[in-house]
Amino acid sequence: TPIAVLISGRGSNMRALIEACARPDYPARIVLVLSNRPDAGGLEVAREAGLPTIAIDHKAFGKDREAHEIKVDEAIKASGAEIVCLAGYMRVLTPYLVNAWHGKMLNIHPSLLPAFPGLHTHEAAIAAGANEHGCTIHFVTSGVDEGPVLAQARVPVLPSDTPETLAARVLEQEHQLYPRVLADVISRLHPGV
Ligand code: GRF
Repeated sequence: TPIAVLISGRGSNMRALIEACARPDYPARIVLVLSNRPDAGGLEVAREAGLPTIAIDHKAFGKDREAHEIKVDEAIKASGAEIVCLAGYMRVLTPYLVNAWHGKMLNIHPSLLPAFPGLHTHEAAIAAGANEHGCTIHFVTSGVDEGPVLAQARVPVLPSDTPETLAARVLEQEHQLYPRVLADVISRLHPGV
């Protein structure tokens, strides 16, 4: 199943998906890595892996989010992707893109949603005195970090944790969870294939 991965930054979750897709028995292949930031480190990682990459800089579209998304959507459709994985794609989506990919767009968020939506989740979990933290993969709907939860992975919060140590513990789980959940979603979309 052809997939597109949307990034804005270093792309470590994208890398986990690239590695999964390299396994012969894995049901997805990456046909496009797209970034809204031309300087995203992950673009270089993707190029080195021999994957097609596109940068569509949101800054070129001013305040017009939908005009940017129309270009993003065109690029995804041209790639032949059937599923879109947001992997650190730091844009709030409008209904345009959300509706275009309803039920076919996944996001990974570094908290146990519905706890701690938005940014700075690790700081927030520590500040709240949470004993447990983790990450969530969900289908993308119009609400930011809302949408049906597909799976979560949990980690303990240790008394000695800083946001950085906690983020690293969660990130390890993200890299395990995303490839697993994507494969599950594909097997549900294409039963028996
Ligand atoms: C991850 O923590 C992801 O959950 C969040 O943004 C971060 C992206 O990291 N949405 P990376 O670019 O995949 O390394």
